[in-house]
Amino acid sequence: MSRKVKELLESHGIPQKEVYFDLENSGFVPDEVVEAMIPYFNKKGFGHPSITHRVGWEALEVVYEAKELVAKTLGIRNPENIVFTHSGTEANNLAILGFLLKNRDKGRGKKVVVSAIEHLSIIFPARFASELFGFKVVLVPVDREGFVDPEILKYYVDKDTILVSIQMVNHEIGTIQRIKDIIDIVKSTNPDAVFHTDAADAYSWIPIDVEKLDIDMLTISGHKIHGPRGVGALYVREDVELESPLKGQLSVEKLWPGVENVPLIAGFKKAVEIMFSNFDYRVNYVKNLRDKLMKGILDRVPEVLVNGPMGDMRVANNVNLSFLRVEGEALTVELSLHGIYVSSGSACSSRVLEPSHVLLAIGRKHEEAHGSILFKLSHYHREEDIDYTLDTVPKAVERLRKISAWR
Ligand SMILES: Cc1ncc(COP(=O)(O)O)c(C=O)c1O
Repeated sequence: MSRKVKELLESHGIPQKEVYFDLENSGFVPDEVVEAMIPYFNKKGFGHPSITHRVGWEALEVVYEAKELVAKTLGIRNPENIVFTHSGTEANNLAILGFLLKNRDKGRGKKVVVSAIEHLSIIFPARFASELFGFKVVLVPVDREGFVDPEILKYYVDKDTILVSIQMVNHEIGTIQRIKDIIDIVKSTNPDAVFHTDAADAYSWIPIDVEKLDIDMLTISGHKIHGPRGVGALYVREDVELESPLKGQLSVEKLWPGVENVPLIAGFKKAVEIMFSNFDYRVNYVKNLRDKLMKGILDRVPEVLVNGPMGDMRVANNVNLSFLRVEGEALTVELSLHGIYVSSGSACSSRVLEPSHVLLAIGRKHEEAHGSILFKLSHYHREEDIDYTLDTVPKAVERLRKISAWR
């Protein structure tokens, strides 16, 4: 925080504590991860990973080590099936557009099935492919907690279905899908349909065994696990054919042209090491903080709705609440003055004052969606952060409700 802002806050008697919960939009990168990246900018491996000299080989080595580690954490036998991209958005675009581009004229069907609460980096490329190549995109509805009902999915997947993409964990409301049941329905209804899952919000929060689950393609993103932003990865099973929608010079990645961002891949690798070094303990620790925060707010603040499920089918790091008679944007500003940073509505589209498509899909009214606040937690939070938040949020909500037009 700059001295000027600090002085301004002090002059208003505003506390100096800061708690950052906006991990949906992006998180800080821990020192260990930054330190793992730095040498690859100027000390080693700063060469092109496809070039045959020592500095190129060093770059190639860390790219391969990262692939091996990611593969191990996901139950993937062949690390070569991991493609690094420059974001989760790119990985999702490669999966959807790349698959449809390659298979558009092969008579494999014309229907693309995605859930209504997918990230926009799934929904938009699917719609784009429908405009370009005449695919029909179908959005599967979810229930009030954000679950895709496998029995309902049966009515959407058929012999004309070429691709199904359903995320493992929802990024806004934390719903953990019953992914095994979903895949079983897809594969038993149409064994030729390819199944992709966006696991950006599941990776490092729930155990994932890609090969056991029979997943064809899977996306992850660096900054969702306290890695750097600007790096993502797509797993593609050997027998799934893609054509890259991106054209240019190929490097290590045959599906994603351009020189690999080696320092960021090194940082991604370090973040994976950290997140998986004490998986169960970390997830449990965060779950306890989540429950304390959620229960504490519900006990202290009237007229609050929980968005997404409660209990074990909610991912450990997600708290999403709608504060009735409060404008979420106003609450983000009010909390920010007290050093608490959250996002409202849809985190990924919060600069657009449209209600989140996820919240609308679970049946929230516009005003309920606009009053929503997303807190995302991690093992870097402490109990005292939750105490401070529980002390601050009720006062902020009360103040805004006093001046609210909805009184
Ligand atoms: C579920 C999900 N998928 C994909 C993405 C896109 O990842 P990236 O920000 O790396 O482009 C996000 C971004 O927050 C996300 O929440």
